[in-house]
Amino acid sequence: MINYYNPVNIIFGENTFSKFSKVLENKKYIIITHPEEFFNQYTNQLLQSSNPPIKIFNQVLPNPDYLDLLNLINNFSCCDKKIDSIVAIGGGSVIDSAKVLAAFKSNKKLLINFVRGKKISKIDNPLDIIAVPTTSGTSSELTCWATIWDKEKNNKLSLTDKSLYPKKAIIDPTIMIAKTKQLTIATGLDALSHSMESIWNLNANPISSFHAIKGAKIVLENLPNLVNDLQNLQLRSNLALACVHAGLAFSNTKTAISHNISYPITLKYRIPHGIACSFSLPFVMRSMKGINKEAEAQLEKIFDNDLINSSTKLLHNLRNLNVPTSLSELKISQKDWRHIVTSAFEGERGKNFLGNMECFDKACQEMGFFNEKEF
Ligand SMILES: [Fe+2]
Repeated sequence: MINYYNPVNIIFGENTFSKFSKVLENKKYIIITHPEEFFNQYTNQLLQSSNPPIKIFNQVLPNPDYLDLLNLINNFSCCDKKIDSIVAIGGGSVIDSAKVLAAFKSNKKLLINFVRGKKISKIDNPLDIIAVPTTSGTSSELTCWATIWDKEKNNKLSLTDKSLYPKKAIIDPTIMIAKTKQLTIATGLDALSHSMESIWNLNANPISSFHAIKGAKIVLENLPNLVNDLQNLQLRSNLALACVHAGLAFSNTKTAISHNISYPITLKYRIPHGIACSFSLPFVMRSMKGINKEAEAQLEKIFDNDLINSSTKLLHNLRNLNVPTSLSELKISQKDWRHIVTSAFEGERGKNFLGNMECFDKACQEMGFFNEKEF
């Protein structure tokens, strides 16, 4: 039996944002977004519409700490009872922050209890979320969880509840056109990671894997061209579609070992999420050889090749995008690496992984991760 679920209404296409104010005609809403000038053009469009937002919160920074979120919740007390929807315009950090507001509204205690590890009971009547992603990577617009960082304790938490799926995702590739090369690479590789992580996953099913293969193929075919032609709307559109497929895949499986390896690397070594979760993909892919027939067969479809050749191709693809693929390039010590990997296999996402640490270590060794031999 296959049990697949994703309730998000996806509205996809060039210039969909300009028709967006119609969707909001009968809503009482606030906007949450980033502080940079770039986002003003979109908030201004809604401010000038026939039904403007009640308030704009534009202070969301990347990877928000729970203390930032407490601050946001505090400010939210002015309007949480006056609205029915939250419009999130931004990257994953903004959409995740919208989920935290939708769930906890202005109740700081609920967030504090969650961060301190107290089990939260059912989320009570969350506000509706309408997500307008401005990057193609996190797919937070298609998932029901939010990442919350506790930087003081070097910890990453995930607030998850089926009621936190956005009601609508407005995916407009024209919004993504101005992104820098570095951001385009990091977000594109995040989408690739979500796709692949949903295949070597205990929760995989044929529907999630179908989307995963589609998503991975589109990223690999289009990202190398896009980074040399950042204004190309067709390539942007292709990446946005890849991100939809990746979201439809991992919204049902969650991520796995590469993401669990990535979190301490992002926290301690400040390596952007999309790079931190993608550098290990070739090693994980190779380590799946002989582990699980179904996952192996699905992974082989990405490059239409066996896993050994596929993982080598993937390693070269990542190197061509300037992703560090050895321990010394990542500037991580052997001792730290061992600790990161051991903890990653023991963590929740690590337990989603169908493979094992021994085969992963062997693949790292064989592919020159430790000694930088040319592979
Ligand atoms: Fe990710």
